[in-house]
Amino acid sequence: MEVSFDLDICIHVAECLRGEPNVFKLQRRPWVLPDEGDADVVAAVIERCPSGALQYRRFDGGPQESHTSGTTVTPMRDGPLLVVGEIQVTHEDGTVETLPRASLCRCGDSKVKPFCDNSHLTSGFRAPGVKFKIHLSPVRLELDKPMAKALDPRAAS
Ligand code: FES
Repeated sequence: MEVSFDLDICIHVAECLRGEPNVFKLQRRPWVLPDEGDADVVAAVIERCPSGALQYRRFDGGPQESHTSGTTVTPMRDGPLLVVGEIQVTHEDGTVETLPRASLCRCGDSKVKPFCDNSHLTSGFRAPGVKFKIHLSPVRLELDKPMAKALDPRAAS
């Protein structure tokens, strides 16, 4: 299994750190070691990553992530739109990126639009939606303060 991670779109929900702590370890390098866990479990944990920052490709014959039944959009209360499906994002330079999951900004304050960067937490954005349970973790020690990207040890050095 190959696992990729994009820190720029991570919103620090930390499903990975809680879901499979042997595979995802914040202080280890590399911080993701897919072979330390069961492939089915690692895939299930990654598919719970709401931002799409984590993705995987399996080489063991196991199923790849797929969303043939369509696309779902769930507004997170006071936060982004959580989208699951085949999401094609066209960047300014014309390149098209396809993601299986994404957290899309609806407060207007994100600096990485169309993705959420958690700016809604400090801008006081309020909007109806599904209450999303945030569990505290090393990347989110307080509910309204995810780790700043500059402090995240997962950033490439
Ligand atoms: S909704 Fe999160 S930054 Fe806009």
